[in-house]
Amino acid sequence: MTPVRGKFITFEGIDGAGKSTHIGFVSDYVRARGHALIASREPGGTPLGEKLRELVLHEKMHLETEALLMFASRRENLAQLIEPALARGDWVITDRFTDASFAYQGGGRGLDLRKLEALEQWVHPDLQPDLTFLFDVPLEVARARLDATRALDKFEQEQSDFFFAARQEYLRRAAQFPQRFHVIDSTQPIAQIQVQLLAILDQAF
Ligand code: TYD
Repeated sequence: MTPVRGKFITFEGIDGAGKSTHIGFVSDYVRARGHALIASREPGGTPLGEKLRELVLHEKMHLETEALLMFASRRENLAQLIEPALARGDWVITDRFTDASFAYQGGGRGLDLRKLEALEQWVHPDLQPDLTFLFDVPLEVARARLDATRALDKFEQEQSDFFFAARQEYLRRAAQFPQRFHVIDSTQPIAQIQVQLLAILDQAF
């Protein structure tokens, strides 16, 4: 008998929005319901993807090279990890996926969205996340959280207009795909966000 396909959950938000804090909570929820869980991140997730991550987060490059490397890493992650896991019935959580390419390369850097749509069609024509959590905060809050942490990578060093445009593009996509997107006001206390996450998960699954 073919196993029931697993669920695919993605976490998104501008840098400093606080998504990482909640990945552990949702992972515990999935495991507590008896599902095997694969946790991954993008760019990265596979040995090759992690090498691409190093490059793309720290080297200066042409905007289209950057977009292509994001999707190259994603292609590998889908082939090695995500697709096989979902097919055998495991659940998959990724820290960012294609919405981040639209937000950062599209919104932030201004790459023509049609090029990103073409890459999306190429790399995963038949797959979309079942659920996407978008952790949303005003730019000043995100910035303050970032400055309080470690050394900043190439994206984190971008200026406010970059993050403003990235956030706008995230919110535009959330409005475009309301079935899978859940926008979480990430200025709320963690406990309150967890209550909200639980309600969404219980309703969705
Ligand atoms: P992330 O893992 O959230 O950073 P951190 O480990 O510092 O929390 O994401 C890495 C960076 O890559 C982030 O600034 C967003 C960027 N990114 C893109 O520009 N395009 C993409 O398609 C993806 C997946 C990430």
